[in-house]
Amino acid sequence: MNKKFLVIGNPIEHSLSPKLHSYWIKKNNLRATYDKKLLEQNEVQKIILDIREEKIHGLNITVPFKKVVIPFLDILSNEARISESVNTIYKDKDKIIGDNTDIDGFKTGLETTNQIIKNKEAFILGAGGVVPSIIIALKKMQISKIYLSNRTDLKALEMKKLFPEIKIIEWGKTPNFDIIINATSIGLNDKDEINIDYRNISKNKFFYDVIYNPKETNFLRKAKQFGAQTENGKMMFVYQAQKSFFHLAQYFTSSRQ
Ligand code: ATR
Repeated sequence: MNKKFLVIGNPIEHSLSPKLHSYWIKKNNLRATYDKKLLEQNEVQKIILDIREEKIHGLNITVPFKKVVIPFLDILSNEARISESVNTIYKDKDKIIGDNTDIDGFKTGLETTNQIIKNKEAFILGAGGVVPSIIIALKKMQISKIYLSNRTDLKALEMKKLFPEIKIIEWGKTPNFDIIINATSIGLNDKDEINIDYRNISKNKFFYDVIYNPKETNFLRKAKQFGAQTENGKMMFVYQAQKSFFHLAQYFTSSRQ
């Protein structure tokens, strides 16, 4: 029987997951389809029931549902549990399992840049859904210090509850850092600007943007002009998808076919 996979989110139009997963499905000659679906929050429980009943065989989850899905799952991987974030859902022996492949995606993506993370200091902008995964990955890579700043204080403080070791910086202020990571949605639109003094902070620093579409946000473009090394979130996207695909494709390698 044909297997059915989906990525769900709201908005969902921008998602490139169907393109990438469909490419791998074809390349591996799997009898499966992978589509995107715009969902409202009150439809989340129903779609997970569809996995239980094997009307759907696997899901990827994007904003804003990575936390919302958790109460409906049977088992969380360790990474999903500590980040309170799920981006992959699949069924294994009657259990609905949630995993978070963003952590490994971010880590492996960063490893491909040859930047040294160990004993460095990072400054994260934003406190949205992807940030716990970034913090956990940086900790695995033995970062020595994490600063975090968010427009809305309350969300920064929630992040500090989850990770007491991070230091919160007032929005608009910049601490000393080696690596700065934009994890806000500023930059999705071409004209978006982050209000920091690139001239004084960019030289010999590493600027990373989780955004990969557009390829080069103003954040990266300006930092590069003032002497920084830069990287966008494309490889994070590819590696989280790859690990997720291994889960989904288990349907074809196990006896569940
Ligand atoms: P969610 O909050 O649903 O997880 P997200 O897209 O994962 O959404 O995160 C959006 C991030 O971008 C948040 O950190 C948000 O800051 P707030 O918590 O203050 O909303 C940040 N963000 C979005 N637009 C912004 C802007 N114009 N200026 C500053 N921060 C912005």
